[in-house]
Amino acid sequence: MRLSLEHIRLVRESYARIDDFDRFADAFYASLFDRDPRFADLFKRSHMKEQQKMFARALTLLVDHIDQKEFLPPYLRGLGTMHSAFGVDASYFNTFADCLIDALETTVGNAFSKDHRSAWRHALAYFFRFMRQGTATQFDETLDA
Ligand code: HEM
Repeated sequence: MRLSLEHIRLVRESYARIDDFDRFADAFYASLFDRDPRFADLFKRSHMKEQQKMFARALTLLVDHIDQKEFLPPYLRGLGTMHSAFGVDASYFNTFADCLIDALETTVGNAFSKDHRSAWRHALAYFFRFMRQGTATQFDETLDA
Protein backbone atom coordinates (compact mmCIF):
# COMPACT_ATOMS: atom_id res chain seq x y z
CA MET A 1 0.00 0.00 0.00
CA ARG A 2 1.40 3.37 -1.02
CA LEU A 3 1.04 6.61 0.89
CA SER A 4 0.28 9.73 -1.12
CA LEU A 5 1.32 13.22 -0.12
CA GLU A 6 -2.36 13.92 0.54
CA HIS A 7 -2.58 10.94 2.95
CA ILE A 8 0.48 12.26 4.77
CA ARG A 9 -0.99 15.75 4.97
CA LEU A 10 -4.30 14.43 6.33
CA VAL A 11 -2.63 12.18 8.91
CA ARG A 12 -0.49 15.04 10.21
CA GLU A 13 -3.35 17.53 10.16
CA SER A 14 -5.64 15.29 12.23
CA TYR A 15 -2.87 14.20 14.62
CA ALA A 16 -2.02 17.84 15.33
CA ARG A 17 -5.61 18.32 16.52
CA ILE A 18 -5.19 15.97 19.48
CA ASP A 19 -5.05 18.37 22.40
CA ASP A 20 -5.24 15.79 25.18
CA PHE A 21 -3.11 12.67 24.67
CA ASP A 22 -4.28 11.09 27.92
CA ARG A 23 -7.87 11.29 26.74
CA PHE A 24 -6.91 9.91 23.32
CA ALA A 25 -4.97 6.99 24.84
CA ASP A 26 -7.75 6.24 27.35
CA ALA A 27 -10.31 6.11 24.52
CA PHE A 28 -8.03 3.90 22.42
CA TYR A 29 -7.19 1.28 25.05
CA ALA A 30 -10.77 1.20 26.38
CA SER A 31 -12.03 0.46 22.87
CA LEU A 32 -9.31 -2.19 22.37
CA PHE A 33 -10.10 -4.07 25.59
CA ASP A 34 -13.81 -3.76 24.96
CA ARG A 35 -13.53 -5.18 21.44
CA ASP A 36 -11.50 -8.28 22.29
CA PRO A 37 -10.54 -9.55 25.78
CA ARG A 38 -7.34 -11.10 24.36
CA PHE A 39 -5.86 -7.56 24.30
CA ALA A 40 -6.28 -7.11 28.05
CA ASP A 41 -4.30 -10.33 28.60
CA LEU A 42 -1.44 -9.04 26.44
CA PHE A 43 -0.95 -5.67 28.18
CA LYS A 44 0.27 -6.95 31.52
CA ARG A 45 4.00 -6.22 31.52
CA SER A 46 3.95 -2.54 32.42
CA HIS A 47 1.75 -0.05 34.19
CA MET A 48 -1.01 1.05 31.80
CA LYS A 49 -0.34 4.80 32.16
CA GLU A 50 3.34 4.23 31.39
CA GLN A 51 2.42 2.06 28.41
CA GLN A 52 0.05 4.77 27.12
CA LYS A 53 2.83 7.37 27.27
CA MET A 54 5.31 5.08 25.46
CA PHE A 55 2.73 4.34 22.78
CA ALA A 56 1.87 8.04 22.27
CA ARG A 57 5.59 8.91 22.00
CA ALA A 58 6.17 6.15 19.41
CA LEU A 59 3.09 7.15 17.40
CA THR A 60 4.24 10.79 17.39
CA LEU A 61 7.64 9.66 16.12
CA LEU A 62 5.95 7.72 13.31
CA VAL A 63 3.78 10.67 12.30
CA ASP A 64 6.79 13.02 12.39
CA HIS A 65 8.86 10.64 10.21
CA ILE A 66 6.05 9.33 8.01
CA ASP A 67 7.68 10.72 4.85
CA GLN A 68 11.21 9.55 5.73
CA LYS A 69 11.80 6.33 3.84
CA GLU A 70 15.26 5.79 5.32
CA PHE A 71 14.06 5.93 8.90
CA LEU A 72 10.64 4.31 8.92
CA PRO A 73 11.13 0.73 7.59
CA PRO A 74 14.01 -0.28 9.92
CA TYR A 75 12.34 1.38 12.92
CA LEU A 76 9.07 -0.44 12.23
CA ARG A 77 10.75 -3.81 11.61
CA GLY A 78 12.44 -3.43 15.00
CA LEU A 79 9.09 -2.56 16.58
CA GLY A 80 7.57 -5.66 14.96
CA THR A 81 10.31 -7.92 16.32
CA MET A 82 9.88 -6.38 19.80
CA HIS A 83 6.12 -6.93 19.60
CA SER A 84 6.59 -10.63 18.77
CA ALA A 85 8.26 -10.94 22.15
CA PHE A 86 5.11 -9.39 23.71
CA GLY A 87 3.01 -12.14 22.10
CA VAL A 88 1.65 -9.88 19.33
CA ASP A 89 1.21 -11.28 15.83
CA ALA A 90 -0.29 -9.89 12.63
CA SER A 91 -3.78 -11.22 13.49
CA TYR A 92 -4.13 -8.32 15.95
CA PHE A 93 -3.33 -5.54 13.49
CA ASN A 94 -6.78 -4.96 11.94
CA THR A 95 -8.63 -4.60 15.24
CA PHE A 96 -5.82 -2.41 16.55
CA ALA A 97 -6.18 -0.14 13.49
CA ASP A 98 -10.00 0.05 13.80
CA CYS A 99 -9.78 1.03 17.48
CA LEU A 100 -7.04 3.58 16.88
CA ILE A 101 -9.03 5.29 14.12
CA ASP A 102 -12.19 5.29 16.28
CA ALA A 103 -10.22 6.88 19.14
CA LEU A 104 -8.85 9.54 16.77
CA GLU A 105 -12.38 10.34 15.65
CA THR A 106 -13.65 10.55 19.25
CA THR A 107 -10.75 12.83 20.24
CA VAL A 108 -10.62 15.09 17.19
CA GLY A 109 -14.43 15.37 16.87
CA ASN A 110 -16.26 16.87 13.89
CA ALA A 111 -13.04 17.95 12.17
CA PHE A 112 -12.22 14.25 11.57
CA SER A 113 -13.59 13.57 8.09
CA LYS A 114 -13.98 10.47 5.93
CA ASP A 115 -10.78 11.51 4.15
CA HIS A 116 -8.88 11.55 7.47
CA ARG A 117 -10.24 8.08 8.24
CA SER A 118 -9.09 6.77 4.86
CA ALA A 119 -5.66 8.43 5.19
CA TRP A 120 -5.12 6.77 8.60
CA ARG A 121 -6.23 3.42 7.22
CA HIS A 122 -3.55 3.72 4.53
CA ALA A 123 -0.90 4.95 6.99
CA LEU A 124 -1.53 2.11 9.46
CA ALA A 125 -1.49 -0.50 6.68
CA TYR A 126 1.84 1.00 5.61
CA PHE A 127 3.23 0.87 9.18
CA PHE A 128 1.99 -2.68 9.76
CA ARG A 129 3.51 -3.93 6.52
CA PHE A 130 6.97 -3.23 7.97
CA MET A 131 6.05 -4.38 11.47
CA ARG A 132 4.87 -7.67 9.96
CA GLN A 133 8.31 -8.07 8.31
CA GLY A 134 9.84 -7.66 11.79
CA THR A 135 7.60 -10.33 13.32
CA ALA A 136 8.51 -12.64 10.41
CA THR A 137 12.22 -12.00 11.01
CA GLN A 138 11.99 -13.30 14.54
CA PHE A 139 10.14 -16.37 13.35
CA ASP A 140 12.73 -17.07 10.63
CA GLU A 141 15.60 -16.70 13.08
CA THR A 142 13.93 -19.24 15.36
CA LEU A 143 13.65 -21.65 12.45
CA ASP A 144 17.30 -21.13 11.47
CA ALA A 145 18.58 -21.77 15.00
C1 HEM B 1 1.59 1.84 15.33
C2 HEM B 1 1.78 0.68 15.90
C3 HEM B 1 2.37 0.48 17.28
C4 HEM B 1 3.20 1.26 18.01
C5 HEM B 1 3.79 2.60 17.61
C6 HEM B 1 3.42 0.59 19.28
C7 HEM B 1 4.24 1.06 20.29
C8 HEM B 1 4.55 0.38 21.44
C9 HEM B 1 5.54 0.78 22.43
C10 HEM B 1 6.43 2.02 22.33
C11 HEM B 1 5.54 -0.14 23.41
C12 HEM B 1 6.40 -0.14 24.69
C13 HEM B 1 7.66 -0.93 24.49
C14 HEM B 1 8.53 -0.99 25.71
O1 HEM B 1 8.07 -1.44 26.77
O2 HEM B 1 9.69 -0.58 25.62
C15 HEM B 1 4.55 -1.14 23.07
C16 HEM B 1 4.25 -2.24 23.83
C17 HEM B 1 3.24 -3.12 23.53
N1 HEM B 1 2.43 -3.09 22.42
FE1 HEM B 1 2.57 -1.85 20.87
N2 HEM B 1 2.70 -0.56 19.30
C18 HEM B 1 2.05 -0.67 18.09
C19 HEM B 1 1.25 -1.70 17.69
C20 HEM B 1 0.79 -2.69 18.52
C21 HEM B 1 -0.16 -3.71 18.12
C22 HEM B 1 -0.79 -3.87 16.75
C23 HEM B 1 -0.36 -4.47 19.20
C24 HEM B 1 -1.34 -5.63 19.23
C25 HEM B 1 -1.94 -6.06 20.27
C26 HEM B 1 0.47 -3.96 20.29
C27 HEM B 1 0.59 -4.48 21.56
C28 HEM B 1 1.56 -4.15 22.48
C29 HEM B 1 1.81 -4.88 23.73
C30 HEM B 1 1.04 -6.12 24.19
C31 HEM B 1 2.85 -4.25 24.38
C32 HEM B 1 3.49 -4.66 25.73
C33 HEM B 1 2.57 -4.17 26.81
C34 HEM B 1 3.08 -4.39 28.19
O3 HEM B 1 4.24 -4.03 28.43
O4 HEM B 1 2.34 -4.85 29.05
N3 HEM B 1 1.14 -2.87 19.83
N4 HEM B 1 3.96 -0.80 21.88
